Order: sequence, then C-alpha cells, then structure tokens
Amino acid sequence: MTRATPTEEFRLTDAEFERLREYFYKRTGIQFTPAKRYFVDKRIEACVRGSGQPSFAAWFSALRVGDRPEMLQALTNQLTVNETYFMREDYQFDALLDPVLPRLLAEHARAGRPRGPIRILSLPCSTGEEPYSIAMRLLEEWPEIDRVDVEIHAADIDSDVLARARHGSYGARSLQRVPKPWLAKYFRSVTAGRYQIEDAIRGAVTFHRVNVCDTHAMRVFAGFDVIFCRNVLIYFDELSSRRAAENLFGALRPGGYLMLGHAESMSRISPIFTPERLPQGIAYQRPTGASA
Ligand SMILES: C[S@@+](CC[C@H](N)C(=O)[O-])C[C@H]1O[C@@H](n2cnc3c(N)ncnc32)[C@H](O)[C@@H]1O
Repeated sequence: MTRATPTEEFRLTDAEFERLREYFYKRTGIQFTPAKRYFVDKRIEACVRGSGQPSFAAWFSALRVGDRPEMLQALTNQLTVNETYFMREDYQFDALLDPVLPRLLAEHARAGRPRGPIRILSLPCSTGEEPYSIAMRLLEEWPEIDRVDVEIHAADIDSDVLARARHGSYGARSLQRVPKPWLAKYFRSVTAGRYQIEDAIRGAVTFHRVNVCDTHAMRVFAGFDVIFCRNVLIYFDELSSRRAAENLFGALRPGGYLMLGHAESMSRISPIFTPERLPQGIAYQRPTGASA
C-alpha cells in the first residue's frame, strides 16, 4: 500500500462531488454542473486546504454538522464567477439616463408625492465596477444630479469581492473602458497600472452581502426604483432563477425597473414583470398596482 499524496487526500470521489453539489445548491441556490468538475475540484481543494482540515471528508463533515457559516462563506467565495469591468453593457446605463430616470421623476411629480431619493441597486455587484460606473455616469451625464438625491446600493453573495469593492482598487483589465478624462478625475494612481476610485465615489455606494435566492434575507431590500441584476441568472437553474425573480420583484417599488444582462431574459423565468422594449433593449417593470 502506498501513502496517499496530499492532493489525493483532497481529491473528491464522484459520490462526494454529488453530495457537495447537492448540499451547496440547497444552501445557496447555485448549481455547479458536472461539466464544471475540473474548475470546482481545484477550488474545493483550495478551500479544504485553507480550512486546516486534514481531508475533504473531515472538512465536509465540519461544514455540514458543525454549523460553520464561515466555512460555507469560504466555499461560496471559491465557487463564484466574478468577471466584471467598468462600463460593461453600458447601453443599459444609457437607458437609465433616458428614458428610465426622466420617467421615474415624471411619475413622482404626477403622483404629487414628496420625492424621496431615487434608489438604485446593483445586485450582484462583484468587485464594484458596476455600481461605480453608474455613479460616474450619473455625475457626468445626468443634469438632474444636482437637484435629485440618489442612493446607490450594491450587493453580492461573495464576501471577498465585497471587500475588494469597498477598497475600490482596479487594474488595467477592469479599467479599459473608462474614458481617460474620467480616470484622471475619479481615480488616483496607487501603483503601476493600478488605480483606486476616489473617496467621494466610494462613499456614494453602500455595499451589502446577500444571496439573491434567499427570500428571507432579501426582505431588507425594498423600495428600489431600478435594479441591475446582470450576469448572474445564467448560473441558476429554473427554481433558483424564479426565486431570485420574485425576490427582485419584492425589492422594487411598483413602477420600478429591472435590468438583466444581455444573455438573460425573464420570459422563461417568470411572468410577474412587464417587459418593455426600450430603444436600448428590454427592461422589466414591476407593474404599478402590484403588491409584493
Ligand atoms: C459575473 S459577476 C456579474 C457582476 C456584474 N453584475 C456584471 O454584470 O458585471 C456574477 C456575480 O454574481 C455573484 N453571485 C452568484 N450567486 C449569487 C447569489 N445567489 N446572490 C448574490 N450574488 C451572487 C457572484 O459572487 C459574482 O460576483
């Protein structure tokens, strides 16, 4: 008999992979398919090693029976796909500037109610490029910004990306679509090729940790005028997508708009939103008069 190499001790059997897949799906709503096995194995190995547990079996048992939320968080952080960059799919930011925001203001005026802040949520926000892009676009291009109070919130399930988002330091890959004058105005150079977003923009975004599929946790999000939920539904199965859609619906105020990623569509997920073809693409509106 030969001694197992450390890597073998951390390697998952097919049955272990299946059990972990099921457990993770139940807890987070995120499904990783067997086709992703190589990617998942590598990341789980990193997670088990980082935990100090001697083997996958010991780690999984501590995770399941030990009520260790920090272990589940570490696993979640390993398994999420966090690709993002500034000004991504920016035709939707064009839509936000016009027609979405003017319509929202007109509606407030028509209803004759005192206008509270316009509330925007970026969920998932990953490392923060999306909410910071929204903040810069509004400051640069929305003439009403001096008159209208705007709140920008951002959330993600991954606590590592949230820490990076709060810190707001970015490399060339993230920044390549930022106009040069904006780079000079809204960032400061920290090291060669890295720039940190200015405090004024950082302070304009409030970050939260949440699982969009967790109905109980999502209850704290309510009354948003616009939600950007881009490039995450593609990772969910039907049930998790539906749950996320319902939770986003509950987080919007009636008449509010939901923006999805270009490869995503609500049509096969849920009929609760009213789709509308804006000049820049489709947006989904929570009907006025609909209760949560
Ligand atoms: C590909 S990034 C998209 C970021 C940004 N919206 C964009 O389009 O550039 C997907 C993000 O979704 C987050 N995520 C995955 N599952 C989630 C869930 N159940 N709840 C909240 N965020 C989730 C991941 O942590 C990751 O940061």
